[in-house]
Amino acid sequence: MIWIEEIAKYEGKEVEIHGWLYNRRSSGKIHFLTIRDGTGIIQGIVLKDEISPDTFELVDRISQESSIIARGKVKKDDRAPGGYELEIKGILLVHSAEPYPISKKSHGTDFLLSNRHLWIRSRRQYAILRIRGEVTFAIQEFFNSKGFTRLDAPIFTPSACEGTTTLFEVPYFDNKAYLSQSGQLYAEAGCMALGKVYTFGPTFRAEKSKTRRHLTEFWQIEPEIAYANLDDIMKLAENFTTYIIQKVLNKRKEELDILERDTKPLELIKPPFPRITYQEAINLLDKQNKVPKISWGNDFGAPQETYISQQFKLPVFIHRYPAECKAFYMKRDPKDPRLALCVDMIASEEYGEIIGGSRREDELAVLEQRLKEFNIPKESNEWYLDLRRYGSVPHSGFGLGLERLLAWICKSSHIREMIPFPRTIDRISP
Ligand code: 4AD
Ligand code: MG
Repeated sequence: MIWIEEIAKYEGKEVEIHGWLYNRRSSGKIHFLTIRDGTGIIQGIVLKDEISPDTFELVDRISQESSIIARGKVKKDDRAPGGYELEIKGILLVHSAEPYPISKKSHGTDFLLSNRHLWIRSRRQYAILRIRGEVTFAIQEFFNSKGFTRLDAPIFTPSACEGTTTLFEVPYFDNKAYLSQSGQLYAEAGCMALGKVYTFGPTFRAEKSKTRRHLTEFWQIEPEIAYANLDDIMKLAENFTTYIIQKVLNKRKEELDILERDTKPLELIKPPFPRITYQEAINLLDKQNKVPKISWGNDFGAPQETYISQQFKLPVFIHRYPAECKAFYMKRDPKDPRLALCVDMIASEEYGEIIGGSRREDELAVLEQRLKEFNIPKESNEWYLDLRRYGSVPHSGFGLGLERLLAWICKSSHIREMIPFPRTIDRISP
């Protein structure tokens, strides 16, 4: 048995493909079968004159998504999808599929999402999941090559990291716990032990609105570095983003083609990305009339992020937001204490915020004061305060949303396609 992905190595040879029937076309004495095996597709040709009558008749009856083993000779053919054809000599029907619910006609998204367990076999979804696999690998490669240690943060947590409005509460024996919104607080403990760490895991937000950018369960990658400042993490974020995009461009070209992704805008992505302050972003918005302006102190919404990203070819860093619209743990700018030493990275091509990060408050008394201001109970955060009691150092980090990054790379209008089994306000099945 061989995998379709490796077919080029077997040109002129007889091979066996184990897969499923994706599609078929027949014209009298010839059947064209599109066979998929999860690593690619190949067109199989079945000629009436070159095969037993029983097999020819069997092929006529194989239904879409039936599992089959096809034996045949590999032939190069530039017109065929994938560049090769299989001259089929024999076919074994492993399982005859019932009438398949997903046909070539277009289906509504709700129907497809209800059949997500089958939908992932479709060409486009296959390409997206292969790109996702490549991206998760590239992420680990990048951090590994830079000496980071992966630190797995817990999912059951005792308190909020990113505000109480999007917390999922779950019973925990006689107590309650919350599903993690972010691994950051644990990454902070980790970087004091290991210098540079990154978390990589699912995080949860009870997002009550239906948008194209929000999932209730999404994957976050959160590097955290001891002794790093805001400039350091902006540099890391632009190198990191560039590395991932280059990897996908090099290794997942075929999948980007399936998605009909115009790769030119991605090829442009190289450091340095432009850096503007929150105030400069406000000034940009003040000069236009396309999207609502924002008054100082408020965070940007999707329309404002879109407008700002349209002013640049590269992703853009917006740094130093007013502290009042950001999280409790962010350090204030010593030059202007109204501001937080934080940064959001806005993707290009209108994909909005994909990274959020900051320098962390490292002074015990100030952090205690912040917990009070944000109404966060001190008891469940004593361990976090300990990090400021025992060898506190300046430190910074950021979080990248995996599915948002993927939506941009794949140029998809919906984040729901970017995760194998999406969870949103109205869906936890399949
Ligand atoms: O900006 P956020 O909320 O930042 C944090 O969670 C920090 N603790 C990160 C850190 O500094 N370590 O989330 C980070 C990123 C966002 O930029 C976005 O890409 C993604 O996570 N994200 C979501 N992705 C999908 N669905 C949601 N509901 C998301 N919420 C945030
Ligand atoms: Mg954010």
